[in-house]
Amino acid sequence: MLNVVIFGAPGSGKGTQSELIEKKYGLVHLSTGDILRAEIARGTDIGKLADGLISKGQFIPDDLMIDILNGQIDQYPTAKGFIFDGFPRTVPQADALDSMLKRRNIRVSIMLNIDVDTNELVKRLINRGKTSGRSDDNLQTIHQRIQVYETKTLPVIQFYDRQHKHHRIQGTGTMEEVFERICKEIDSVISYSVIW
Ligand code: AP5
Ligand code: MG
Repeated sequence: MLNVVIFGAPGSGKGTQSELIEKKYGLVHLSTGDILRAEIARGTDIGKLADGLISKGQFIPDDLMIDILNGQIDQYPTAKGFIFDGFPRTVPQADALDSMLKRRNIRVSIMLNIDVDTNELVKRLINRGKTSGRSDDNLQTIHQRIQVYETKTLPVIQFYDRQHKHHRIQGTGTMEEVFERICKEIDSVISYSVIW
């Protein structure tokens, strides 16, 4: 099984690259942001909680997020592997992901950290905000999201560094150029048969 953690700041291109990886490698794409936005659209209790937090650029509590992701994995018993997009976002979530995969006798194969400078992130998200309808694509919330990323999410890099699974990807250039860099890293892990 090939399990990819796609990691990066808000606007770094996690969703864009996940779609390309999904197509090429036949993996199931689990985006916690998309899952939460679907809950909001359905007006569920989770959606009501998520709505207020997302529009302020704050995280959903770890325990709830972990439960949601665990339930999602169970929905794809025949998956060839997963792309985890937007999860883990905190060290407790990274620990929980390891445990939930271990229980299923699988593990994270690679963590791809898409690196984009802050000016470019803000530019991309402001631009997307013109059409996305996302409650968090406005200047104030974008800055808040980046700040929360820097304090709560950056330590996740060390977590995967210690497991020798962290691969930095230069996230600027065209989407195709970034994808090419990503494929190189994934392919090198695939050829290293110990992960299968
Ligand atoms: P989430 O939906 O995951 O948002 P995010 O991390 O802020 O990231 P985005 O989805 O905005 O950006 P992206 O990296 O996917 O980039 P994209 O490909 O879209 O999470 C939203 C919220 O949900 C969180 O803030 C939190 O409140 C909550 N949440 C989610 N997961 C959680 C968790 N695990 N725990 C707790 N709370 C959680 O690209 C961005 C733009 O750039 C697009 O317009 C795209 O077209 C463009 N673009 C992409 N690549 C390029 C390129 N190479 N060049 C130029 N433009 C590009
Ligand atoms: Mg996204």
